[in-house]
Amino acid sequence: MSPSPEQGLVITDGQINHFKRNGFFLIPNPLGAEGVRAVDRAQQDIEPEWEATEFPQGFNRLACQWLMVGEPLLQMVEHPELLDGARRILGTETVHIGAVGLGSAVAVIGEDGRPQQQVQWHTDGGPDAQQVSFRTALDRHDTSNAPLRVLPGSQNRPPDEVADELLQLELATGTHDETPEMCFARHPHEVEVVLDPRWTLVWTPSTWHATGVKTAAGPRRAMGWNYYPAGGRTRDLEALKHIHPGWSDWPEDRQRLWGLV
Ligand SMILES: [Fe+2]
Repeated sequence: MSPSPEQGLVITDGQINHFKRNGFFLIPNPLGAEGVRAVDRAQQDIEPEWEATEFPQGFNRLACQWLMVGEPLLQMVEHPELLDGARRILGTETVHIGAVGLGSAVAVIGEDGRPQQQVQWHTDGGPDAQQVSFRTALDRHDTSNAPLRVLPGSQNRPPDEVADELLQLELATGTHDETPEMCFARHPHEVEVVLDPRWTLVWTPSTWHATGVKTAAGPRRAMGWNYYPAGGRTRDLEALKHIHPGWSDWPEDRQRLWGLV
């Protein structure tokens, strides 16, 4: 049975403790089954226009696609239970939404000449970066559809130490003539997150992560949004103002939540 939009959105201390130790947990998709279908349709309606649009330089294109969906997504990320969870995870009263994204990120991968559609091990942030990211799949990201792979607990470890460990595991595959620049090898403690549209991953991109290989045909669309404490990232501020020019008429609370004031 699919969860309704209001069910299961209260984030528990147990989930937050799991996040602190391991870097992730899962909640029912806050959109609910109906909402997922609506966003799925909206994404397909928007894509041709988005593809044909040249956004100003420096705009993140996947953020623009997310923002083009408009109110249903704006309201989803402003859901009081999610905001409360983000505040408790980050340990602060003041949070803002600093980065969003919608679309097929894996389509971009492989354009640099690598033989397969797969993202290498990396971290976006490190132990000092305070951030919480929500990630939903519009298409099921199973083993054949380049699932996200995370290394639990690695967000709390020195980045050099984790990088050295991943390099040794990569070398142990016996497939290299020289020291590789990118590592993909399986870590014995990694978790391959099979993300079904019914569930939403709550995680910190400070956790080391990679993807599996995309061998399945068809789309692999993801949707994400990130909360930050005061002073944190405001990557998509200009894109937000551009796509929602009426922002200056928004209530002050909403402007603050989007890092506009
Ligand atoms: Fe990443």
